[in-house]
Amino acid sequence: MFPLMNELFLQSSFRPLSVLVFHLLLTHSQSQSQLIGPSQPIVATVGDDVILPCHLDPAEDVGTMILEWTRPDLKPIYVHMRRAGQDLVDKHPSYIGRTSLFINELKHGNISLKLSKVKLSDGGTYHCFIPKLDKRSSVELVVASGAASSPVISLSGTDSNRGAVVLECESKGWYPEPEVLWLDGEGNLLSAGPTETVRGPDDLYTVSSRVTVEKRHSNSFTCRVQQNKTNQTRETEIRIPGRNYMFLQF
Ligand SMILES: *[C@@H]1O[C@H](CO)[C@@H](O)[C@H](O)[C@H]1NC(C)=O
Ligand SMILES: *[C@@H]1O[C@H](CO)[C@@H](O)[C@H](O)[C@H]1NC(C)=O
Ligand SMILES: *[C@@H]1O[C@H](CO)[C@@H](O)[C@H](O)[C@H]1NC(C)=O
Repeated sequence: MFPLMNELFLQSSFRPLSVLVFHLLLTHSQSQSQLIGPSQPIVATVGDDVILPCHLDPAEDVGTMILEWTRPDLKPIYVHMRRAGQDLVDKHPSYIGRTSLFINELKHGNISLKLSKVKLSDGGTYHCFIPKLDKRSSVELVVASGAASSPVISLSGTDSNRGAVVLECESKGWYPEPEVLWLDGEGNLLSAGPTETVRGPDDLYTVSSRVTVEKRHSNSFTCRVQQNKTNQTRETEIRIPGRNYMFLQF
């Protein structure tokens, strides 16, 4: 009984100690600073210039260090690289001539990247990295098309037995892919068919959705198309004279 208790005691008291020693060894050879990126994605619209934030905290002069911005999903992964006080041009072709660091900010440990003339294909996760300090952080960039059209609602059919009509809603020019919702006059969600999504040669999405509405519903219906990441919403309302469902002509 006693030897076992002794062993348990040793285990439980030595484990935290060894973890602490390990931490001390690790941090000893490294900077105490952390690279900090934004906690939320950065949202930009095609054509914008955007800043991808990344800074050392506490600040430390990084002006002479190797600084790297990469996108691990690309090949080559390099978006921007600075070495011996020079920006290197050897990087992913899509980013040539569109990236820069804020040179006066480097002494404050701020290695935020300016990306000009944002393209749809710029959307993704970026890493900022200081090899000498072995510090890295990441920034998610979400790019919106900025070309989303207001939905167009049309009457696409009737079901005279049920006194119902089928409404169709279509909206073009979206990126990223949005969701489509139908609401009645009181703002209640209606259950609709699956959203059809088509991606055009310009990479933008056209979405459409149908809903069957009956007499018992109100006579006002809204098609709302929304993209939560970019906080974009477009909606259109249609009014149908409630009593005439069966006699509507198409
Ligand atoms: C880093 O520099 C950019 C560009 O000047 C600026 O927008 C950002 O606020 C700076 N970040 C910090 C933490 O100072
Ligand atoms: C988008 O946001 C709305 C409102 O906050 C929410 O009801 C909806 O579920 C969200 N959609 C997605 C796909 O996260
Ligand atoms: C999204 O838009 C709504 C209304 O326009 C606004 O209140 C909200 O703060 C926005 N959210 C973000 C994350 O930008």
